[in-house]
Order: sequence, then C-alpha cells, then structure tokens
Amino acid sequence: MDWGMKNRMGRIFKQDGRTVMLAVDHGYFLGAVSRLEEPRRTIEPLIPYADSLMITRGVLRNCIDAKYNIPIVLRVSGGNSILDEDLSNEGLTVSLQDALRLNACAVALSIYVGSPHEHQTLVNLAHLINEAENYGIPVLAVTAVGKELEKRDAKYLSLSCRIAAELGAHIVKTYYCEDFDKVVKSCPVPLVIAGGPKMKSELDVLGIAYNAIASGARGVDMGRNIWQSKWPVAMISAIRSIVHEGASIGKATHLFENLKAKKK
Ligand code: 5RP
Repeated sequence: MDWGMKNRMGRIFKQDGRTVMLAVDHGYFLGAVSRLEEPRRTIEPLIPYADSLMITRGVLRNCIDAKYNIPIVLRVSGGNSILDEDLSNEGLTVSLQDALRLNACAVALSIYVGSPHEHQTLVNLAHLINEAENYGIPVLAVTAVGKELEKRDAKYLSLSCRIAAELGAHIVKTYYCEDFDKVVKSCPVPLVIAGGPKMKSELDVLGIAYNAIASGARGVDMGRNIWQSKWPVAMISAIRSIVHEGASIGKATHLFENLKAKKK
C-alpha cells in the first residue's frame, strides 16, 4: 500500500485496527430525516466520540466547522430519493478533486447488487476506485439494499461484499445478519456494519455491534441507532466500549445506563 493510502486507512482504523464511524449522510436521499433536521445540532456533540464522520459535502461545508480534526468519509454517490420505488439508480455526484479539496480521508459510494441498476452502481464503484487509487484515497463500498430490508441474509450480503472487494473497494460496509462470520470470512477487506432503521431497544443495537465484532467485523458505521436515540452520547459511548475496549454486552449496557442517568 502506498504511504498516502496507508496513512488514510490508519486515520480511520485506530491502533487496534477498529473504528467507530458516525454515519450522518442519510439526507442525500432521505432529506431532513428525523433528528437530523438541523445537522449541526445533532452531529457536533457526537464528534468527540467518533473516529470519523460519513457525510455529504453539503452538510460538511455548511454545518461542520473546519476546525475539527476528524477524518471525513465523504459520500460521493446519489441521485435518488425516498419517493422513488427503486432506490438503486445512483451515479457519482462528487468529483475526486472536490473530495480532495474537502480533505476527505476516504470516499463512499453505494452498490445495489440484484437491483435494476446493479451494473451501473458496480461500474460506478470500479470507476471511483480507478480514480481514487491515483491519489491514495480509500473507497468505502456500501452494500445498500434499498427498501428491500428482507434481502439482508448471509448469502446475499456475502455476495455483495465479495463483489465490492473484488472490484477493489478498500472498506466494505454492510448489515449485520445471522451467520455473519460467513460474510466476514469471504470478504478480504475490512468490514464495518451499518445499524439500519432504529431498533426497538438499545440492547438490540449493542447486541449486533457485539456480535459483529465477535464475528470479525472491524467496526461500525452507524447512524440512526445513535442519533435517533434519546441518549446519543450514551449510545455511541457504549458502542465504542464494545468496538475499542472489548466490552461485553452487559458491560456496554451498564455504561449506557450510567450515562443515560446523567442525561447524556
Ligand atoms: C445510507 C447509508 C448510511 O450511512 C447507512 O445506512 C448507515 O446508517 P444507519 O446506521 O442509520 O443505517 O449509507 O445508504
């Protein structure tokens, strides 16, 4: 790996090889999603607890002060909206030149395997990697499933993750599922998990974070289950304890409850 690529990967994945990425890019197709209506208010208090921010250029430029030294994973795909039945019709929306101008540490793009625009999104990924390799910028491939959440099983996710890695993605983001170790084993690059829509309880979220790490995931890239919680700082802190301190679900829940009692 070239020095620049190694350095950027090392800024995202900490000394222990793991990472807590905070995903706040949802507005690119969901608009002003609940609790992210005023991005600055939601994001700023969480910055000290995140190893990187996954974000769009519009929110980065307008809502995040440049003084923060947090690595930026810039969302560079889009072109769809929640109003469309088919969410897979994405293209590249940001040039690599602009990503570099924003001092992005990595760029992120969604692929939709098995969707009407599978080919287009996979070719988008390949083109982005070709460009990004020229500048030593890691590419994070998001194995998106659109509205078809039921697609999230090990067979499908393993297929999507492996294709992303074969095309040259440096990091792959996917969903947690049963038999997740099979997804991890068949993907030769670091895997991080999304949280998906808000779950019923904090315990469920801590459970998938714990199980994903135990199965070999290198971290999380979570959004809604952190910032849609009534206690976002408590939530991200508990997740951090699992990812970076090897906390059990019980220990992480204890930490969450303690911080919640302090209204964090
Ligand atoms: C949207 C994304 C989001 O960043 C991703 O889904 C993570 O957020 P959440 O934990 O809320 O699912 O890539 O396509």
